[in-house]
Amino acid sequence: MKRCYITTPIYYASGKPHIGHAFTTILADVIKRYKQQNGYEAYFLTGTDEHGNKIESKAKSLGLDPQTFVDQNVAYFQQMWKQLDINFDHFIRTTDLSHKAQVQHAFQLLYDKGLIYQSNWEGAYCVECEQNYFTYDKQTMLCEIGHQLTLVQEPSLFIAFKDSKDWIGEMIATNKLNITPESRAAELKNNFLDGGLNDLALTRQNVTWGIPVPFDNKQTIYVWFDALFNYITNLGFAHNDPKFNKWWNNNDEEHEVIHLISREITRFHCIYWPIFLHQLGFKLPTQFLSHGWIVDGNGHKMSKSLGNVISPEELLAQFGVDGTRYCLLKEMRLDKDNRCSMAIFKDIYNADLANSFGNHASRTFGMIKKYLGGQLDFIEVQDPQVKQLMDQANQAMVQFDTAWNNFQFYKGINGLLQLVFQASKLIDQLKPWELVKQTDYTLLKQLLFACVRCTQVCFVLLSPILVHTSTQIFDLFNFSAQARSKTHLADPQQLQKISLAPVIQPLFKRLD
Ligand code: MSP
Repeated sequence: MKRCYITTPIYYASGKPHIGHAFTTILADVIKRYKQQNGYEAYFLTGTDEHGNKIESKAKSLGLDPQTFVDQNVAYFQQMWKQLDINFDHFIRTTDLSHKAQVQHAFQLLYDKGLIYQSNWEGAYCVECEQNYFTYDKQTMLCEIGHQLTLVQEPSLFIAFKDSKDWIGEMIATNKLNITPESRAAELKNNFLDGGLNDLALTRQNVTWGIPVPFDNKQTIYVWFDALFNYITNLGFAHNDPKFNKWWNNNDEEHEVIHLISREITRFHCIYWPIFLHQLGFKLPTQFLSHGWIVDGNGHKMSKSLGNVISPEELLAQFGVDGTRYCLLKEMRLDKDNRCSMAIFKDIYNADLANSFGNHASRTFGMIKKYLGGQLDFIEVQDPQVKQLMDQANQAMVQFDTAWNNFQFYKGINGLLQLVFQASKLIDQLKPWELVKQTDYTLLKQLLFACVRCTQVCFVLLSPILVHTSTQIFDLFNFSAQARSKTHLADPQQLQKISLAPVIQPLFKRLD
């Protein structure tokens, strides 16, 4: 069986989730549901990153101990994922005992291989991003996102990259890591590899809120080393848990491991993480999907520390669960940064959901009710114009899969919008109200059948996003289990005996 393991970054448990966290998590959820629809067994991991300087100092500033602080914030994340209908399989917390023990195990393994050595760490550090910068603006002392940098100098244990430097250089130059979009690979090469990859400081003397170094409890392990290992600690890699072989360390051909990340953490995922795995002799992920940022009107990354975010609560209140999932997925092009605002989302909601998909389904429902008493059987389409619409539905299906398999979600959706537009044009042209007057029921039934077919194709394909509305629509048309499934979507014969529900509620109410 085809298998897919999909992960989000684990988010800092330093506050409530914001729009960026919601976007990546919805994306992972949609990919999981899409893979399942296409016959994959899928496992989806998300969670929270709970150690380090940033969490420790934020908790302190609120007069809380770090554990109480993260417990509160983790609850916000879990509630929000529930509200957004995120169907994850496991939620990992880096304060879990099992995770901590396994991170120490990984550290010890690398130490035993002679790859960890003592030296002096010096550089510019961003506490918000929990990362050091080699090149930075010495005037402003701000990181690329706009956070304050501080200069640090302290003894630390380092990981030696030695031969891994050439190995990772080659992996990235030939895009064997499968980083999407490919432009990120070039950025990594220019910014971190061409000038020579520096060894990484793996321990902290001044951070107490962290996992102790296994053989020296006066030092803690650097939060990024701790965090990256979540992807395999949750599979019990250190205990020979069968889950580790099933979801990660195997040679199965039809096995995918997809890490979703955004561009500012690509260095950690696509340089350091593959090196650690390589040093330990483990398999690599098969795909890194590094999306751009949601930015405000001035092009600045939306982030809580900059105070320019839209909250997921605001989105849910305005657009509902399906509307929020749809607007985020439709608006975000993964290969670039995307300006977002409530006004932009409202336009998408009205244009796509209310006026196109929703309107097509209600109009089709209304016509079948009015002209055919709510009943329609499968019918062989003969009329050339209606046949063309049926063909367009089939083409849209194929194009949708091509786009989604290349992570071009907006493109697949645009194809469906085009289909609904063609359907609407044909209805206006053939004028069902005239066909009734002329008692041309053969053509009328063919036309309405094709409209049902377009509704089916759109909502089966959109069901990984529109988790509630798609079911609502299938129920309205009384679709059989087969007619709701992707497996049988190529075959219009699954649409037998359409028998409408008594009434239709507005599907996506237009927002003013
Ligand atoms: N804890 C680290 C990740 C460790 S993974 C081993 C971290 N956490 S974070 O809370 O800052 O979350 C970063 C992730 O949130 C980004 O990679 C991205 O997935 C999402 N986003 C946060 N802000 C975002 C935008 N403004 N736009 C899009 N997504 C962004 O980094």
